[in-house]
Order: sequence, then structure tokens, then C-alpha cells
Amino acid sequence: MTTRIKDLDILPSAAEKEYCELPKISLDQHTGNNRKLYIESYGCQMNYSDSEIVTAVMHANGFDTTSQPQLADVIFLNTCSIRENAEQKVWKRLKEFNILKRKNPQLTIGILGCMAERLKTKFLEQEKIVDIVAGPDAYRDLPKLINDVNEGSKAVNVFLSREETYADITPVRLNSNGITALISIMRGCDNMCSFCVVPYTRGRERSRDVHSIVAEAQDLYDRGYKEVTLLGQNVDSYKWQSADGIEKVNFAQLLERVALVNPELRVRFSTSHPKDITDEVLYAIKRHDNICNYIHLPAQSGNNRILELMNRTYDREWYLGRIEAINRIIGTDCGISTDIITGFCSETEEEHQDTLSLMQQVRYHFAYMFSYSERPGTPAAKKLADDVPESVKQRRLVEIIDMQASTSKARNLEEIGKIHRVLVEGFSKKSTEQLMGRNTQNTVVVFDKKHYQMGQYVNVQITDCTRGTLMGQGID
Ligand code: SAH
Ligand code: SF4
Ligand code: F3S
Repeated sequence: MTTRIKDLDILPSAAEKEYCELPKISLDQHTGNNRKLYIESYGCQMNYSDSEIVTAVMHANGFDTTSQPQLADVIFLNTCSIRENAEQKVWKRLKEFNILKRKNPQLTIGILGCMAERLKTKFLEQEKIVDIVAGPDAYRDLPKLINDVNEGSKAVNVFLSREETYADITPVRLNSNGITALISIMRGCDNMCSFCVVPYTRGRERSRDVHSIVAEAQDLYDRGYKEVTLLGQNVDSYKWQSADGIEKVNFAQLLERVALVNPELRVRFSTSHPKDITDEVLYAIKRHDNICNYIHLPAQSGNNRILELMNRTYDREWYLGRIEAINRIIGTDCGISTDIITGFCSETEEEHQDTLSLMQQVRYHFAYMFSYSERPGTPAAKKLADDVPESVKQRRLVEIIDMQASTSKARNLEEIGKIHRVLVEGFSKKSTEQLMGRNTQNTVVVFDKKHYQMGQYVNVQITDCTRGTLMGQGID
């Protein structure tokens, strides 16, 4: 089997949830507000979660969302800088929106998120392509920035805060199926992986008040939601304490508190860092049936010299030790996924083989795979040569995609005949006669609709599979 690069989009069945290549677009909201906001979001789940905060701020200031940019008074692009191609898509999109603006000069265009933070006033001054530039910690300021534009002044806020967590803002759920929701538990990142732009675009790490997180989960459950995903760049370093210092909460304790909201509310989380994930977290997962048996534990590479150059602060042996702990404490059926970068600075053929052998050893359920894209200003861009030719990066990428495709298929084949508890999220992509949901390991399961409903837990007996999806029949 040969795999094309574009298969990246479909290979991990959870891909639509994380690092999605397609933007998420706002839906039509009709609450009586007469000004319209169109918001398009790129990048990671944290960015999607931020768009829900932005929408809440805008809603409180007289805006309803629309799915049609041509009907909007304000267009926001919430952007991602993680790789060069993520930024290119946004430049292209901005040009398209500027054509709309020529027809409708009243239209306000704003750039939000990581690209706004990275490129700051370039959009306003050099390119003259937007009216507003707002970084990830400036969303409370958006109504004022819109006023500034109306009064003819420049509207920029790229200040990065050490405190902002938007804890008191109740997000307006965008694109929601009413069943699964994202909850940001922290912002920023204090790690310094040499390839990564996030510490520069999102600032210092800070944890949100545990009480506001639990209250948000409770409110979602009360409104019929059945699954929450707790989000942070490095959830294992979640750390919160009360002002008097008496109450101290780490990630394992937070997970447990959210799990106790209700046994019918599933809890997921992302992303775990191999250097920080503790046995205490693994035991919390083991103790609570509603904390899903799924861990996204990005390895990035299987070679120690490359891991050192990446400044990941663990080595292959440590990483495999953490995998062993997951298998021992939670069980060998715990879903595990990874992120891999191919062709990082000076990576040799043998070092690439080490990544393949790591993947073979761990047997990941899913993987998100990327070729290295140098980001200006990062430690790697400053100190290391981006010297692996593009063709070699891409060939190595295809090799790891092929390896993952066969592992995913083999893993799914092992499930045939077994029964999985699936939370129904919606219709399958192909037919309204079929439903789709996920099992605890985060694999998509598709089955005949019969009498089953959205938001219901259904026991599905697996009868068939592809590499990305399990297929079966519900059993009562
Ligand atoms: N906080 C998460 C990752 C966030 S970024 C973690 O530490 O695992 C998501 C993924 O994008 C990373 O895991 C990495 O695999 C990939 N990535 C980040 N920077 C990249 C770059 N410069 N080129 C290619 N891929 C990159
Ligand atoms: Fe980037 Fe590393 Fe932080 Fe992840 S942990 S966001 S890869 S710096
Ligand atoms: Fe997320 Fe992209 Fe920013 S991955 S944190 S939106 S650079």
C-alpha cells in the first residue's frame, strides 16, 4: 500500500479533533443581537476553545455568530503559527476577505491567535490587510478594539499576560453537537522545545482556578453534555493554589474532581508530556471508569540525540518507561497516541529508523505526523541548520505514515468480535442511517442507527474495521 501525504487528514480518526487541517467555522446564532460575527479558527483544540471565549465576549457586546462571511459586520480569523503551511492558509484567506471588504468598506477584519502574536503589527502596517490585531491574552479587549477601529485609530493588543485564564467567561459553544465540549484548564507553556513557537505566541504557563473548571464541567453536564476534554499544552504541570495557600491542586487531583461531577460524564484530556506524566495521574484514570483510557503522549522522535537537540528533556528509555507504566497501571488496552516530527535538523537515516522502531515497539493507536518546519525566532531556528532536504523529510514522513497505517489497521482488527461502550456523538459521515461515536480509547465507531439516540452510551459489537474506524452493531 502506498500512502499519500494528504492521507494525513484521514489517518488518525481523532484528527478532526486535533491539529485539524480544515478551519472550524462559526454557525448561525439567532438570539436577537443585530450585529454579526463570522469567526474561522485554525490550529489546535486550545485555539478552538479560545474562539468560544471570543464568541462569548462578542455576544455580550451585541453580536450573534453567522456562518456566512458576506453577512458579517466583523470577521475574525483565529490563527495558528505551528508550521509554515498553517500560516500560509491564513494569508490566502485574508486576501479573500479583503475582496469582500472592497465591496463592503464597513466590514471589520481582525486577526487573532498565535499568528497575531508572532507577527504583531505587520498585518496592520506593512500588509494593511486587517483592522484589528489581538493576541491570545487580549480577547477581553476586543469590544474596545472594535471601537478604536470605528474611531479611526489603530487597534492592536498583543500583550501576553501572566494571569489571564478567562476563568470567569462562560464560553459560547461553537459547532457543538451538544454532547462533547472543550474546557481549557491552563494557558501558555514553560517548556522550551527547540522547534516550537508556542512559548512565544502563548506566553508563560498559568493554571486556571480549579473551582471554575469544576463549575464549568458541572454546568455542561446539567445542560446535557456527556464528555469534556481538559486542555493544556502540558496538562501534567497543572498546578493551582488558593490565595491563602491552603488549597493546592495538581493535575491528578483536578482530573479526579472533574470525574466526580457525574459518573455519566466522560473525561478526556490533552496534551500529556512524557517528562511530567505521573503514576498518580495513571492511578486516577484507573480508579474512575469515566476518565477515558486514552493518553496523547507525543514522542516527537525515537532517537536520543534528536530528542536532546529538540530539548524534550527525556530520552527514549524514559519514554518507554512511561509507556510501560501506562500498560501496567491502566492496562495494555489503553489508547495511546503520539506526535512525530520527521527531518528535524541533522536527523540521519539511522536516527529516522529509531523513530520507526519506537513506533513499532509502542504500537500507537493513532499518530499525528509532521515534517519539520522551521519557525523564526525558535531556539532551533537560531542555533541549528534546517539541513534535511524537503524531499527527504517528506519521504520519511510517508514511511512513518505507512508504518502507523498498518499498526492502526492491525490494532483495529484485534477488536473484531469485542464489545465497546460508545458515546454517540452524531451521524456517520456517509449516512443518516448510521451513528458515530468514540470508544474509551478515542477510536471512532460507526454502527446502524436503529433506536439509538445522540448522547446515549451504546454497547457495540465490532464486526469490521478500516484503519481509522471500527464498525459494528449495537446490542441491547
Ligand atoms: N504541547 C504539545 C504540542 C503542541 S504543538 C506537546 O508538547 O506535545 C503540536 C505538535 O505540532 C507537536 O507535538 C509537534 O509534533 C508539532 N510541531 C510543533 N512545532 C513544529 C514544527 N516547527 N515543525 C513541525 N511540527 C511541529
Ligand atoms: Fe511546544 Fe514543547 Fe510546549 Fe508542547 S511542550 S507547546 S511542543 S514548547
Ligand atoms: Fe495551537 Fe497553533 Fe497556537 S497549535 S497554540 S494555535 S501555534
